Amino acid sequence: MTEQLTASASEAFVLAPEVMDQLFFEARSANSFIDEPVADETLDAIYEATRMGPTLMNNQPLRIAWIKSEGARRAVAATMSGSNAAKALAAPALAVLSFDPEWHETFEYFFPHAAERKAMFEESTMRSSVGSNNAWLQAGYFMMAVRAAGLAVGPMGGFDHAALDAAINAETGYKSFLIVNIGKPGENAWFQRLPRHEADFAVRSL
Ligand SMILES: Cc1cc2nc3c(=O)[nH]c(=O)nc-3n(C[C@H](O)[C@H](O)[C@H](O)COP(=O)(O)O)c2cc1C
Repeated sequence: MTEQLTASASEAFVLAPEVMDQLFFEARSANSFIDEPVADETLDAIYEATRMGPTLMNNQPLRIAWIKSEGARRAVAATMSGSNAAKALAAPALAVLSFDPEWHETFEYFFPHAAERKAMFEESTMRSSVGSNNAWLQAGYFMMAVRAAGLAVGPMGGFDHAALDAAINAETGYKSFLIVNIGKPGENAWFQRLPRHEADFAVRSL
Protein backbone atom coordinates (compact mmCIF):
# COMPACT_ATOMS: atom_id res chain seq x y z
CA MET A 1 0.00 0.00 0.00
CA THR A 2 1.11 3.54 -0.52
CA GLU A 3 2.54 5.84 2.10
CA GLN A 4 -0.73 7.78 1.92
CA LEU A 5 -2.51 5.19 4.01
CA THR A 6 -2.00 5.46 7.75
CA ALA A 7 -1.31 2.25 9.68
CA SER A 8 -4.63 2.47 11.55
CA ALA A 9 -6.55 2.92 8.30
CA SER A 10 -4.90 -0.08 6.69
CA GLU A 11 -6.28 -2.27 9.48
CA ALA A 12 -9.80 -0.84 9.21
CA PHE A 13 -10.61 -2.10 5.72
CA VAL A 14 -12.07 -5.56 5.28
CA LEU A 15 -11.18 -5.74 1.58
CA ALA A 16 -7.77 -7.17 0.69
CA PRO A 17 -5.00 -4.53 0.60
CA GLU A 18 -4.42 -5.10 -3.12
CA VAL A 19 -8.13 -4.49 -3.77
CA MET A 20 -8.00 -1.23 -1.81
CA ASP A 21 -4.93 -0.24 -3.84
CA GLN A 22 -6.72 -0.99 -7.10
CA LEU A 23 -9.81 0.98 -6.13
CA PHE A 24 -8.25 3.87 -4.19
CA PHE A 25 -4.66 4.13 -3.11
CA GLU A 26 -2.74 3.24 -6.25
CA ALA A 27 -5.49 4.16 -8.73
CA ARG A 28 -4.72 7.21 -10.83
CA SER A 29 -6.43 9.37 -13.42
CA ALA A 30 -4.88 8.16 -16.69
CA ASN A 31 -3.78 10.49 -19.46
CA SER A 32 -2.71 7.80 -21.93
CA PHE A 33 -3.77 4.24 -22.66
CA ILE A 34 -2.41 1.15 -24.40
CA ASP A 35 -4.09 0.21 -27.66
CA GLU A 36 -6.22 -2.63 -26.27
CA PRO A 37 -9.98 -2.58 -26.80
CA VAL A 38 -12.40 -2.88 -23.89
CA ALA A 39 -14.91 -5.72 -24.42
CA ASP A 40 -18.61 -4.87 -24.60
CA GLU A 41 -19.19 -7.35 -21.76
CA THR A 42 -16.90 -5.26 -19.56
CA LEU A 43 -18.80 -2.08 -20.41
CA ASP A 44 -22.06 -3.89 -19.57
CA ALA A 45 -20.61 -5.05 -16.24
CA ILE A 46 -19.51 -1.51 -15.40
CA TYR A 47 -23.10 -0.31 -15.72
CA GLU A 48 -24.41 -3.29 -13.71
CA ALA A 49 -22.21 -2.24 -10.77
CA THR A 50 -22.78 1.50 -11.23
CA ARG A 51 -26.55 1.25 -11.02
CA MET A 52 -26.43 -0.39 -7.59
CA GLY A 53 -25.00 2.69 -5.84
CA PRO A 54 -27.47 4.66 -3.69
CA THR A 55 -29.32 7.71 -5.04
CA LEU A 56 -32.04 9.98 -3.68
CA MET A 57 -35.31 8.02 -3.61
CA ASN A 58 -33.50 5.57 -5.91
CA ASN A 59 -33.88 8.16 -8.70
CA GLN A 60 -30.89 7.08 -10.88
CA PRO A 61 -30.72 10.14 -13.17
CA LEU A 62 -27.41 9.11 -14.80
CA ARG A 63 -27.51 8.32 -18.53
CA ILE A 64 -24.40 6.85 -20.17
CA ALA A 65 -23.47 7.04 -23.85
CA TRP A 66 -20.70 4.64 -24.89
CA ILE A 67 -19.09 6.37 -27.85
CA LYS A 68 -18.31 3.59 -30.32
CA SER A 69 -18.40 4.94 -33.88
CA GLU A 70 -15.55 7.04 -35.23
CA GLY A 71 -18.05 9.74 -36.23
CA ALA A 72 -19.45 10.01 -32.72
CA ARG A 73 -15.95 10.06 -31.25
CA ARG A 74 -14.90 12.89 -33.52
CA ALA A 75 -18.08 14.80 -32.62
CA VAL A 76 -17.26 14.44 -28.91
CA ALA A 77 -13.62 15.47 -29.41
CA ALA A 78 -14.73 18.55 -31.40
CA THR A 79 -16.28 19.94 -28.20
CA MET A 80 -12.99 19.73 -26.26
CA SER A 81 -9.81 21.76 -26.00
CA GLY A 82 -6.58 20.43 -27.59
CA SER A 83 -5.14 18.08 -24.98
CA ASN A 84 -8.51 16.76 -23.84
CA ALA A 85 -9.55 16.17 -27.46
CA ALA A 86 -6.38 14.19 -28.15
CA LYS A 87 -7.03 11.99 -25.11
CA ALA A 88 -10.65 11.35 -26.11
CA LEU A 89 -9.59 10.41 -29.66
CA ALA A 90 -7.02 7.90 -28.36
CA ALA A 91 -8.84 6.22 -25.47
CA PRO A 92 -9.86 2.56 -26.04
CA ALA A 93 -13.33 3.23 -24.57
CA LEU A 94 -15.09 6.55 -24.21
CA ALA A 95 -18.18 7.38 -22.17
CA VAL A 96 -20.25 10.54 -22.03
CA LEU A 97 -22.08 10.85 -18.72
CA SER A 98 -25.27 12.92 -18.77
CA PHE A 99 -28.24 13.35 -16.50
CA ASP A 100 -31.89 13.29 -17.42
CA PRO A 101 -33.60 16.50 -16.23
CA GLU A 102 -36.91 14.62 -16.58
CA TRP A 103 -35.72 11.74 -14.41
CA HIS A 104 -38.97 11.86 -12.40
CA GLU A 105 -40.95 10.43 -15.31
CA THR A 106 -40.02 6.87 -14.30
CA PHE A 107 -40.87 7.48 -10.63
CA GLU A 108 -43.46 4.68 -10.56
CA TYR A 109 -40.74 2.25 -11.67
CA PHE A 110 -37.92 3.21 -9.33
CA PHE A 111 -40.01 4.13 -6.23
CA PRO A 112 -43.22 2.11 -6.63
CA HIS A 113 -44.16 1.93 -2.94
CA ALA A 114 -44.51 5.76 -2.73
CA ALA A 115 -45.05 6.86 -6.30
CA GLU A 116 -47.15 9.83 -5.20
CA ARG A 117 -43.95 11.54 -4.07
CA LYS A 118 -43.27 12.28 -7.72
CA ALA A 119 -45.34 15.41 -7.09
CA MET A 120 -42.47 16.79 -4.98
CA PHE A 121 -40.45 17.16 -8.18
CA GLU A 122 -42.85 19.05 -10.42
CA GLU A 123 -40.75 22.21 -10.14
CA SER A 124 -38.16 21.97 -12.90
CA THR A 125 -35.24 23.97 -11.44
CA MET A 126 -35.17 21.94 -8.24
CA ARG A 127 -35.74 18.71 -10.18
CA SER A 128 -32.83 19.49 -12.46
CA SER A 129 -30.49 20.18 -9.57
CA VAL A 130 -31.54 16.97 -7.80
CA GLY A 131 -30.92 15.15 -11.08
CA SER A 132 -27.50 16.72 -11.56
CA ASN A 133 -26.39 16.04 -7.97
CA ASN A 134 -27.43 12.42 -8.04
CA ALA A 135 -25.96 11.78 -11.47
CA TRP A 136 -22.65 13.13 -10.13
CA LEU A 137 -22.94 10.65 -7.28
CA GLN A 138 -23.47 7.90 -9.83
CA ALA A 139 -20.43 9.15 -11.76
CA GLY A 140 -18.38 8.34 -8.66
CA TYR A 141 -19.79 4.81 -8.56
CA PHE A 142 -19.12 4.54 -12.31
CA MET A 143 -15.45 5.44 -11.92
CA MET A 144 -15.02 2.97 -9.08
CA ALA A 145 -16.73 0.27 -11.17
CA VAL A 146 -14.25 0.93 -14.00
CA ARG A 147 -11.39 0.50 -11.54
CA ALA A 148 -12.95 -2.69 -10.17
CA ALA A 149 -12.91 -4.02 -13.75
CA GLY A 150 -9.12 -3.58 -13.77
CA LEU A 151 -9.17 -0.47 -15.94
CA ALA A 152 -8.20 3.15 -15.45
CA VAL A 153 -10.37 6.24 -15.84
CA GLY A 154 -9.46 9.59 -17.34
CA PRO A 155 -12.32 11.89 -16.32
CA MET A 156 -12.63 15.18 -18.22
CA GLY A 157 -14.92 18.08 -17.42
CA GLY A 158 -13.23 20.43 -19.89
CA PHE A 159 -15.62 20.49 -22.84
CA ASP A 160 -18.37 22.67 -24.29
CA HIS A 161 -21.46 21.19 -22.64
CA ALA A 162 -23.98 22.93 -24.90
CA ALA A 163 -22.09 21.83 -28.03
CA LEU A 164 -21.90 18.23 -26.83
CA ASP A 165 -25.61 18.24 -25.96
CA ALA A 166 -26.39 19.55 -29.43
CA ALA A 167 -24.23 16.80 -30.96
CA ILE A 168 -25.43 13.75 -29.02
CA ASN A 169 -28.30 14.67 -26.67
CA ALA A 170 -30.60 16.68 -28.96
CA GLU A 171 -33.25 13.94 -29.12
CA THR A 172 -33.20 12.98 -25.45
CA GLY A 173 -32.83 16.36 -23.73
CA TYR A 174 -30.15 14.84 -21.48
CA LYS A 175 -27.47 17.17 -20.07
CA SER A 176 -23.86 16.06 -20.42
CA PHE A 177 -21.54 16.71 -17.48
CA LEU A 178 -18.49 14.43 -17.70
CA ILE A 179 -16.51 12.59 -20.38
CA VAL A 180 -14.56 9.54 -19.22
CA ASN A 181 -11.68 7.89 -21.07
CA ILE A 182 -11.30 4.22 -20.12
CA GLY A 183 -8.62 1.61 -20.71
CA LYS A 184 -5.35 0.18 -19.50
CA PRO A 185 -2.79 2.89 -18.78
CA GLY A 186 -0.16 3.59 -21.44
CA GLU A 187 3.22 5.33 -21.48
CA ASN A 188 3.66 8.27 -19.12
CA ALA A 189 0.04 7.87 -18.11
CA TRP A 190 0.26 9.89 -14.90
CA PHE A 191 1.02 13.41 -13.90
CA GLN A 192 2.67 13.81 -10.51
CA ARG A 193 0.31 12.76 -7.70
CA LEU A 194 -1.20 15.92 -6.24
CA PRO A 195 -1.62 16.42 -2.48
CA ARG A 196 -4.82 15.29 -0.78
CA HIS A 197 -6.22 17.20 2.18
CA GLU A 198 -5.26 15.77 5.57
CA ALA A 199 -8.09 14.68 7.85
CA ASP A 200 -7.31 17.46 10.34
CA PHE A 201 -8.14 19.96 7.57
CA ALA A 202 -11.15 18.31 5.95
CA VAL A 203 -12.74 16.25 8.73
CA ARG A 204 -14.13 17.12 12.14
CA SER A 205 -16.04 15.32 14.83
CA LEU A 206 -18.91 17.15 16.47
C1 LIG B 1 -14.92 16.08 -12.52
C2 LIG B 1 -13.52 15.97 -13.06
C3 LIG B 1 -13.13 16.76 -14.12
C4 LIG B 1 -11.83 16.65 -14.64
N1 LIG B 1 -11.51 17.34 -15.77
C5 LIG B 1 -10.31 17.11 -16.36
C6 LIG B 1 -10.02 17.67 -17.64
O1 LIG B 1 -10.83 18.38 -18.25
N2 LIG B 1 -8.80 17.40 -18.19
C7 LIG B 1 -7.89 16.59 -17.56
O2 LIG B 1 -6.80 16.37 -18.11
N3 LIG B 1 -8.13 16.04 -16.35
C8 LIG B 1 -9.33 16.26 -15.74
N4 LIG B 1 -9.63 15.67 -14.54
C9 LIG B 1 -8.60 14.82 -13.87
C10 LIG B 1 -8.16 15.41 -12.52
O3 LIG B 1 -7.27 16.47 -12.72
C11 LIG B 1 -7.53 14.27 -11.69
O4 LIG B 1 -8.53 13.32 -11.45
C12 LIG B 1 -6.97 14.76 -10.34
O5 LIG B 1 -5.91 15.65 -10.54
C13 LIG B 1 -6.47 13.59 -9.49
O6 LIG B 1 -5.51 12.85 -10.18
P1 LIG B 1 -5.13 11.36 -9.70
O7 LIG B 1 -6.40 10.57 -9.73
O8 LIG B 1 -4.13 10.84 -10.71
O9 LIG B 1 -4.54 11.46 -8.34
C14 LIG B 1 -10.91 15.76 -14.02
C15 LIG B 1 -11.32 14.96 -12.94
C16 LIG B 1 -12.62 15.03 -12.49
C17 LIG B 1 -13.05 14.08 -11.39
